Amino acid sequence: MSLLKVTIDNKTIEVEPGTTILQAARMIGPDVAPPAMCYYTKLKTSGGYCRTCLVKVSKGSEKDPRPMPKLVASCRTTVMDGMEVENFTSPEVVDARNGVVEFLLLNHPLDCPICDQAGECHLQDLSYENGKSKTRNEFERRTFEKIDIGDKIQLHMTRCILCYRCVKVADQFTPERVHGVINRGEVSEISTYIQHAVDNDFSGNMIDVCPVGALTDKTFRFKSRVWFLKPVDAHRNCDKCSGKTVLWKYGQEIYRITGRKDQWGEVEEFICNTCRFDKKAPSDWTEEGPRKLSRHSVISQGQYGAKTKFVASPVTLPNKQLS
Ligand code: SF4
Ligand code: FES
Repeated sequence: MSLLKVTIDNKTIEVEPGTTILQAARMIGPDVAPPAMCYYTKLKTSGGYCRTCLVKVSKGSEKDPRPMPKLVASCRTTVMDGMEVENFTSPEVVDARNGVVEFLLLNHPLDCPICDQAGECHLQDLSYENGKSKTRNEFERRTFEKIDIGDKIQLHMTRCILCYRCVKVADQFTPERVHGVINRGEVSEISTYIQHAVDNDFSGNMIDVCPVGALTDKTFRFKSRVWFLKPVDAHRNCDKCSGKTVLWKYGQEIYRITGRKDQWGEVEEFICNTCRFDKKAPSDWTEEGPRKLSRHSVISQGQYGAKTKFVASPVTLPNKQLS
């Protein structure tokens, strides 16, 4: 199979046919990789909802060098041989992404100070990089009837950006389709059917895939800011999942347990609810050592070793500062 050559922000790589622009950009590295709020490598059919990964295709291919007439979603557009793509180097892309972020924040509450996702929220990071300091929205933000989806997961619908990732988790880990997004436009919401999906052994993964604070861990709620905790890789013998997790510890106490995330913030292996919610004693786990985080957000502050440089004011915490 012959490889396809693609150039993204002046960096060239050869990839297999079928590779998307986003995947190719990630292979080159974080300096050229577009942000992605809805695409998730391990969730089939994810991507194509949020538009944060927009890029400009300035040359379609070697055979047909015409540029694509408008910006495209890089998570849904496959590479052609000789394609040239502009991401951070294109003012048009940066401007469009700023607009997307403004839309995402139209209805999102500014409750980062009390949100458990603060410090590891992709929208928070994105708004530091592409957001405006003021809103132009004069209308009231969306509100929803509160729905209790069980004793383990807290749903804050007002924070949801409708990325569909939790729907994909429910769809791909539960035997029946009992979930979805109901309604359209600004009254869209992840459906009440999600209550039925949360009984599943793997429902806790919805918390890990949610890029914002719409789905948070009730067993960890308001217990600590994430940057005060030390992430530690650990494993246990589990008959439902790989048992490979991250323990978030304060001293010897385990405050919460999550899947292990890679540099794109995606879970490497999904874990079961028993590991996530029911095994909070240190004796349940074999610790492997400190977890290295490659996020550039405030969560990196709590790391051991080299990545502890931290700037206190969040407004002075731009993209590459901690990397
Ligand atoms: S609750 Fe979270 S994961 Fe689900 S659609 Fe909303 S933002 Fe996405
Ligand atoms: S990541 Fe591509 S549209 Fe959301």
